[in-house]
Amino acid sequence: MDRSSTSTRQRSIMIVSESDSFADVISKAFPTEENTKITTKNESFKAMNGHAVDLAFDHDVVIFEADPDNRTEVQAIETLLAHRADGTVFLAMTDNDVSIVKARQLREIGIDEVLPISIDSDGLRAVVEEQIGARRTPQKEFHDGPSAHGQLFVVGQSRGGAGATTVATNLAYSLANGPKSLFRKGEQSRVVLLDFDIQFGNSNVFLDLEDKGGFLQIIEANEEPDDHFLMSTLQTHPLGFDVLCAPTPVIPLQSVRPDLIENMLDLLRDRYDYIIVDLPRAIVDWVEPVLKRAASLILVTDISVPCVRQSRRLIDFYRETNVGLPIEVVVNRDRRPLIKSEHVREVENVLETRLNHWLPDNTKVARSAVDLGRPVVEMKPKSDLGKALINLGTALSTQTSAKKSKKT
Ligand SMILES: Nc1ncnc2c1ncn2[C@@H]1O[C@H](COP(=O)(O)OP(=O)(O)OP(=O)(O)O)[C@@H](O)[C@H]1O
Ligand SMILES: [Mg+2]
Repeated sequence: MDRSSTSTRQRSIMIVSESDSFADVISKAFPTEENTKITTKNESFKAMNGHAVDLAFDHDVVIFEADPDNRTEVQAIETLLAHRADGTVFLAMTDNDVSIVKARQLREIGIDEVLPISIDSDGLRAVVEEQIGARRTPQKEFHDGPSAHGQLFVVGQSRGGAGATTVATNLAYSLANGPKSLFRKGEQSRVVLLDFDIQFGNSNVFLDLEDKGGFLQIIEANEEPDDHFLMSTLQTHPLGFDVLCAPTPVIPLQSVRPDLIENMLDLLRDRYDYIIVDLPRAIVDWVEPVLKRAASLILVTDISVPCVRQSRRLIDFYRETNVGLPIEVVVNRDRRPLIKSEHVREVENVLETRLNHWLPDNTKVARSAVDLGRPVVEMKPKSDLGKALINLGTALSTQTSAKKSKKT
């Protein structure tokens, strides 16, 4: 087991800006007690001498202000990035009004992520964590993973009631309506939520939808659905995404064939930007094609010893099917600790991943959202749970869009 968890390492961040207030705001997002060393360079890239350039590459992350219209500065950044080794992440912060095209141009010169200046501290920290994690443990390409098509997020749970459906339904809303760190003003992503928890699935209840029998029709047809038939089985949610509800009657798990799932996912990947799957907890053969196509598996758990042990077993099982599968652990009903306890560090070691995503316990908000059949992020976006779920959507979409842009 690799015990060199990133949590115990010192991280270094260099802030490059001519503006003191920018450096001030960014450094406040990274509390020093969290093993972070901040260095500030009070100048532009254009003015940097060779020593300062070398210094930038000595850091894990360089965060800087970027104006895509400032040609000489963009040119200076491009020259610098052309000489970089793999280790350092470059994050640009730009005005909120920067167009998608200009943000993309910045990415094309090699900047790892382009973020709006309005991003909050939690969002910025999440992006930094993800980017450092991705650099330190480069993921293998999945042998059957998505290419230019939709990204498949698979949501699993370490125990019943862990919070998988809460995460899946809120993610569907967040991705469809554009997490705030993405440059998608006025543009919506096409999102479909598939409730594959065929025996106990209740995502329709979380979304105030009545199952119209689409999944049952697919299963009973007993042949691979064509595009037209498949689309007719989906239900459109008024909040801007489509849903395949779990069948209302309880049916045997084995009534779903792997080739049916395979065919279904391949058709949907051509139509949607994001496909979110609420997985059954049972291990069945038709889960394999889902895992093989997954861009990321989101495992919802708590950090009690039994759940951590079960999470470890599940991670091993999922990775047997897809060796390079990126796994994001979401700790539910717990606040992100300011300083990681011994227990949290041990959990990170056991799961061989950083615990980057935390959702606080908020029964009042969670319950009223379910009772009204509305996602928390839509109904109570300013609650602690709402904010944490928004940050989760932001982190996941930012991460996959970064991977996508690196591939193209
Ligand atoms: N952070 C939270 N704070 C308070 N309540 C929560 C939180 N997350 C989820 N819940 C509530 O816990 C219950 C179980 O959550 P959810 O249905 O999302 O879990 P699940 O893993 O999908 O469970 P199942 O085994 O039924 O599929 C729901 O009533 C939900 O509203
Ligand atoms: Mg569920």
